[in-house]
Amino acid sequence: MIVPVREASHLLQQGQVVAIPTETVYGLAARIDNIDAIKKIFSTKARPFFDPLIVHISNFSQLTQVTESISESANLLAKNLWPGPLTLILKKHHSISDLITAGLPDVGVRFPKHALAQELINDNGPLAAPSANKFGKTSPTQAQHVENEFQGQVAVVDGGNCNVGIESTVLKIEELPDKVNVIIVRPGSYGEQEIRVALSSQKKEIHFIRSGSLAAPGQLENHYQPDAPLVLSGSPWTPKTHQNIEHQLQKKYSTPPVFWKWEAPSPELVARRLYASMREHSVLAAKSNTYIYLETPLGFQDKAWEALRDRLNKASSLSLD
Ligand code: TXA
Ligand code: MG
Repeated sequence: MIVPVREASHLLQQGQVVAIPTETVYGLAARIDNIDAIKKIFSTKARPFFDPLIVHISNFSQLTQVTESISESANLLAKNLWPGPLTLILKKHHSISDLITAGLPDVGVRFPKHALAQELINDNGPLAAPSANKFGKTSPTQAQHVENEFQGQVAVVDGGNCNVGIESTVLKIEELPDKVNVIIVRPGSYGEQEIRVALSSQKKEIHFIRSGSLAAPGQLENHYQPDAPLVLSGSPWTPKTHQNIEHQLQKKYSTPPVFWKWEAPSPELVARRLYASMREHSVLAAKSNTYIYLETPLGFQDKAWEALRDRLNKASSLSLD
């Protein structure tokens, strides 16, 4: 059910969960000082308690409420890239519940760049919010997606289409005397280049480390999954690759797949439309009882596509490479 922002603020104050817009994806929010509300996030999403939530702030002074300390480099990233699609894993403030961090000593913190999200946080203090989808499913980038996901059972603030379209870059920073380790827990629209620029006023060497699935409890192999199976081509479509696919899939599906193509793609534009387009293709494929076939573009293996590769590889059931 779509609610005005004033009503949403009141519902949060009363300990309800509310879906809120951010520039990345919609989040399912609750106040961090209400444990029952935090529990409702997990039950509404059917999310396991081992997967920690990130906490959203709306000004820099709230940092002292959520973290005990912040390193010089993490602080530079915050100052230069917030508000924006960046989550920093920081030493948690003692008042932050273990339920939020899944028992970890660190908490994920983000300052979103969306006026309505900021308004709700200004009213209610920091809000915990994972993406507003059932666990393991595709993240929502429109209010209607959240309505469909929870069948109208969750109050939603409609903030329009999410401008970035995929979830934030999640980083953990290790500040050492002679270098800075930047651990990429989850790739996102801020890549190595933006991070280097943001850190350029400190003179230490920067090392990027991909954490793989170990450091982020929520980064499971299967994630972001649409309702119909998604198959990635891995290389441009040719009659031969098509035969190959048919050979592999014809036993299971009697109907040809729904083809998903990106016209003149740039990573930013694809990211903005990714989940809405994935949902649209999934509805079509489910109707004909078949799968979605995505022909990945040339350059898909380049760094600029890292975040989209991560999402699509996890969303797909089968890759033909
Ligand atoms: O863009 C976003 O980040 C969106 C919007 C709503 O802000 N939120 C989001 O939350 O994507 P969620 O819960 O769907 O993904 C957060 C990821 C999960 O994989 C979680 O495991 C990881 O961040 N994470 C959260 N806290 C962590 C922590 N303390 N240590 C390591 N990983 C953490
Ligand atoms: Mg999520």
